[in-house]
Amino acid sequence: MTRTVYVNGDYLPETEAKVSIFDRGFLMADAVYEVTSVLGGKLLDFQGHVARLQRSLSELQMVSPVTMDELLEIHHQLIEKNDLDEGGIYLQITRGAGADRDFLWPDPEEVQGGIVLFTFAKKITANKSIDEGIKVISIEDLRWGRRDIKTTQLLYPSFAKMQAKKAGATDAWFVEDGYVTEGYANNVYIVKDGVIITRQLSNDILHGITRAAILKFAAEAQMKVEERPFTIEEAQAADEAFATSATGFSQPVVEIDGVTVGTGKPGPVSKRLREIYIEEMPKTAL
Ligand code: PDD
Repeated sequence: MTRTVYVNGDYLPETEAKVSIFDRGFLMADAVYEVTSVLGGKLLDFQGHVARLQRSLSELQMVSPVTMDELLEIHHQLIEKNDLDEGGIYLQITRGAGADRDFLWPDPEEVQGGIVLFTFAKKITANKSIDEGIKVISIEDLRWGRRDIKTTQLLYPSFAKMQAKKAGATDAWFVEDGYVTEGYANNVYIVKDGVIITRQLSNDILHGITRAAILKFAAEAQMKVEERPFTIEEAQAADEAFATSATGFSQPVVEIDGVTVGTGKPGPVSKRLREIYIEEMPKTAL
């Protein structure tokens, strides 16, 4: 079945979908994005993703070409047209295509933003990496200083993921001034003596929608949480480690820079949080 995607107002087969070479998303990474997971044909935490999208747009003074109600409708149309049960939807909004390449932003009254959405099917509730946990490497955080905005500047995260692959790992964790910031595309946690430790929110990390949900569930389950920076050495000596993202939920990590974490098997805290997440989130899915 050919996938149907959404491009600037049209639902099209993916092979017919085109964007301008002058689109600022393509030329300058002048774009923001969201990834929302889909379970049982419904969107998990859509409101959270839309709230962060609006914040990203506003931080960059970018205007969305569609309203947030229209955005929900487009997501639903794509789920239906692609018969999507489990996976996710990628959404990107750009500052649009000016007449030429220009570092100055075009007037949003004259140039409408670009918008692209597509679905992807993926087994997110159960897979090998969840059963076994993954290996990660650490890498210096050379990304820009406004990581709280969900922009498409993903060159360095993609470099980090390639470095991880070369080292026989799956993911990379960024380190700045000796402390872990976050994963290449996820927020990260360690557990020591029953306490969940994760870096506090600031411009240094993306404010994960899954992070917010997981910390809420952890508090409701009377788990102790400390929001503070931690080092790679502390993570290697922890009882367990994990990462969260919209399509990874809670992903166990069993090795960091070649050092086994805990027993080397997915730990009970990340497992429990994953179970709660999968049980609770469908109740508010749209
Ligand atoms: N990435 N940190 C970074 C740098 C991310 O790119 C992501 C998500 C997260 C977790 O955020 P959330 O829980 O809202 O998904 C943290 C998405 C999934 C991606 O790029 O595919």
